[in-house]
Amino acid sequence: MRTRPLKVALLGCGVVGSEVARIMTTHADDLAARIGAPVELAGVAVRRPSKVREGIDPALITTDATALVQRGDIDVVIEVIGGIEPARALITTAFENGASVVSANKALLAEDGAALHAAAEKYGRDLYYEAAVAGAIPLVRPLRESLAGDKVNRVLGIVNGTTNFILDKMDTSGAGYSEALDEATALGYAEADPTADVEGFDAAAKAAILAGIAFHTRVRIGDVHREGITEVTAADIASARRMGCTVKLLAICERAADGASVTARVHPAMIPLSHPLASVREAYNAVFIEADAAGQLMFYGPGAGGSPTASAVLGDLVAVCRNKLGEATGPGESAYTRLPVSPMGEVVTRYHISLDVADKPGVLAQVATVFAEQGVSIDTVRQQGKDGEASLVVVTHRAPDAALSGTVEALRKLDTVRGVASIMRVEGE
Ligand code: HSE
Repeated sequence: MRTRPLKVALLGCGVVGSEVARIMTTHADDLAARIGAPVELAGVAVRRPSKVREGIDPALITTDATALVQRGDIDVVIEVIGGIEPARALITTAFENGASVVSANKALLAEDGAALHAAAEKYGRDLYYEAAVAGAIPLVRPLRESLAGDKVNRVLGIVNGTTNFILDKMDTSGAGYSEALDEATALGYAEADPTADVEGFDAAAKAAILAGIAFHTRVRIGDVHREGITEVTAADIASARRMGCTVKLLAICERAADGASVTARVHPAMIPLSHPLASVREAYNAVFIEADAAGQLMFYGPGAGGSPTASAVLGDLVAVCRNKLGEATGPGESAYTRLPVSPMGEVVTRYHISLDVADKPGVLAQVATVFAEQGVSIDTVRQQGKDGEASLVVVTHRAPDAALSGTVEALRKLDTVRGVASIMRVEGE
């Protein structure tokens, strides 16, 4: 074993960074044996240097992250700061100064992954980011390496723990969205500002990363159709139950049937209770991958939190250090298919539509005509009438999303339709 240590700079020492530092210390011998050389924490860049950080030598703490990555003797930079800047500039500077990078930064990779990969390639460094998608769950490496010989057609998953906790709570207790969010906040699942999670931005960034790797093309967060869970009501969840379904925030990345394009979307959807994703409870994540030769694979586990995310970071650290010692680099960006990302309107899906209508002759025929005019075939209709009003629940067959949303728009214009109580896509059948 080489005795000269590989030097690691840690950028960020919050929930994830402090766990990375702890595991690097407590597992130092095992890490050295697995890598073939010891790894040494050479510096830790933080915003608040006065904070007590147990187990970290105060002499390693600095507020000057740029100087740390410019030192020239750093082998690997671990970036767990998050956000676009200064993370992007620091990663690029790290590459220029001889370091490979392990990052957990989903927002940056989903926004500017191509430029970061190009910089890594230019300087002959590694860029690894297993921790950017679904915490401890191995997804990036299975897609980049284990499935590199297969053809992935679909990635479908729950990639945000906060929203899964909220929807699970609504499902099990009958709570409304606000009540369930309050509980998620009190238990530390939701952040003080939950926007990134509940509006689907976090899941959309992960979907962009997964779609890009799965289909060997470039997908940015702006290409991902995004709807959050803030409009999901207790009535939607009850309606799903009546259909034998539950509601989940899904990230769905698909290759078109003709293979000429891909789609990536994040939105709440009803899935049958018999689907394996329906049993993913609390803040857990799970992802299905469907590939030509492999068939269906499911990955399940904790998608957030300090230790699970640090596990993914440490796995990347070992891989990157091994590459360094072997004077090699791991897989870079694979975007050779250059497949375009189609808009949401072209996605083929099913809708569950709940309408409040007048209960009088001809209303059902009127409603059915709107569906027919938009070329949308109805699968089931359930009507419950009371005092001249009725609630009508229509579930469609598969149709392009544009036709389905056109149908809803036309239904809203009917005098006999008092209101559209809920619209939700149905997936996973
Ligand atoms: N906030 C995310 C979640 C974890 O709730 O799953 C980090 O991506």
